[in-house]
Amino acid sequence: MSRAPVDAVVLVSGQGTNLQAIINAVEASRLDLRIVDVISNRADANGLQRAARHGIPTIIVDQRHYAAREDFDKALLDTINAAKPELVVLAGYMRILDDTFVEHYAGRLLNIHPSLLPKYPGLGTHARAIANGDSLHGCSVHFVTAELDGGPVIARSAVAVHAGDDVATLSARVHLAEHKLYPEVIKWFVAGRLQLIDGNATLDGKPMPEPTDLAFDAIAATG
Ligand code: GRF
Repeated sequence: MSRAPVDAVVLVSGQGTNLQAIINAVEASRLDLRIVDVISNRADANGLQRAARHGIPTIIVDQRHYAAREDFDKALLDTINAAKPELVVLAGYMRILDDTFVEHYAGRLLNIHPSLLPKYPGLGTHARAIANGDSLHGCSVHFVTAELDGGPVIARSAVAVHAGDDVATLSARVHLAEHKLYPEVIKWFVAGRLQLIDGNATLDGKPMPEPTDLAFDAIAATG
């Protein structure tokens, strides 16, 4: 059953191009989402300016303003809870969320990661793909669990690695794939099709097909 419109909070730390892709999808009426707040741990995150340009309220919760890690985690959770979101979208948010947070939003917490998970969790994914001579690289959207970049994968989008690629050229190509993939996955959530059941990502109540590099295209074609 559709959940639309869905209230969401988006967390950013940097450029916010994925946030922009989501905003664009909303403004083009392709995505029935209400972005209630954009929250950042960095006052200089460009994503905050993007949000402000589109009239979306912004909030900064900066870890440097808290004496202890737990105080910061609590402040962030309280700030997000105050917005009463049905969905929390991590879009280049560069802090690890604590277990309480992750459990609180289990099944309602999405992240996009710049690799074909389970390959290359963590940082430096583009350089690692190039160094290993991979012919395919890409991005994955997954439910967030306590394991860093280890939650159930929902969908992936692959791009070719070209001869002569460097981190800049490859990451630019992956970003384009991210900007298509993330709004589509969020659309499944909004439509009530996407759920985390017994630790598995499910679409229409069925486990997602094993993520292959074509999985996203195949599923998108049916939905
Ligand atoms: C993306 O590559 C995303 O996969 C990763 O952080 C980057 C954020 O980019 N989690 P942007 O801030 O959305 O431009």
